[in-house]
Amino acid sequence: MTSPAFSPATTTPSDDRRQEPHMPTHAPAIQVHGLEKSYKDLHVLRGVNFEVTRGSIFALLGSNGAGKTTAVKILSTLLRADAGTARVNGFDVATQAADVRESISLTGQFAAVDEILSGRENLILVARLRHLKNPGQVADDLLARFSLTDAGGRKVATYSGGMRRRLDIAMSLIGDPPVIFLDEPTTGLDPQARIEVWQAVKELAEGGTTVLLTTQYLDEAEQLADRIAILHEGRIIVNGTLDELKRLLPPAKVEYIEKQPTLEDVFLSLVGTKA
Ligand SMILES: Nc1ncnc2c1ncn2[C@@H]1O[C@H](COP(=O)(O)OP(=O)(O)O)[C@@H](O)[C@H]1O
Ligand SMILES: [Mg+2]
Repeated sequence: MTSPAFSPATTTPSDDRRQEPHMPTHAPAIQVHGLEKSYKDLHVLRGVNFEVTRGSIFALLGSNGAGKTTAVKILSTLLRADAGTARVNGFDVATQAADVRESISLTGQFAAVDEILSGRENLILVARLRHLKNPGQVADDLLARFSLTDAGGRKVATYSGGMRRRLDIAMSLIGDPPVIFLDEPTTGLDPQARIEVWQAVKELAEGGTTVLLTTQYLDEAEQLADRIAILHEGRIIVNGTLDELKRLLPPAKVEYIEKQPTLEDVFLSLVGTKA
């Protein structure tokens, strides 16, 4: 923190940034500090720190078992941390759990839709549960937003994996939570379905929703995220934009062509293992 009395006469780059009109004035949507969690002797989170800007897509990238779901469960108040603090939408997950729950939705790896009902009926059901005024209208708006209008009247049992996942995400948006957690949103989906879900997630963020997603797929983080944090051995070992992460590795020069590192190169170099 610099006090105005000590500000240099010339404008520094950081001063320029501070004066930009588009600079968000809100606190970050998610603030995590020193988060620790063990299951008995297994020290899964060992001091996790990160922040997520409002309206951005943040990817928590890590191998299977890295602790991604554990982190998401703590942030969504399903699990208590052993140490550290986390605030979601300005509320403390430990002491203001009810406020946090009203601010979020959580979509897990396994779609929670009812197969027997149609997509529209699933949406209406949730809208009723949340006591919304016009459940039919809410359902129709969400069907349109997720390109499911034509399929809306069909039983979910007939949907493709991508359609189910989109419906699942649509259901989690009922009531307009400002923050949404997507825990491995495309695990188990085929390539086309993954692209459909990515599109839906991008549209969410464009609409101002803050998205924290976990993934073990490098291309997913690469495609979607404004910022990527790699969770490894209980800590965030790197956190930045894709470009910033790529800059961690020098481009490999091969005679006449210059090969830019991929996110995979960065990940493997930092994590240091090949599966
Ligand atoms: N309830 C639990 N009891 C004991 N160990 C657990 C429990 N939940 C997760 N773990 C272990 O903690 C580690 C992190 O799990 P998890 O957060 O699910 O990782 P990820 O979502 O990154 O795959 C794994 O080794 C997992 O087996
Ligand atoms: Mg998980």
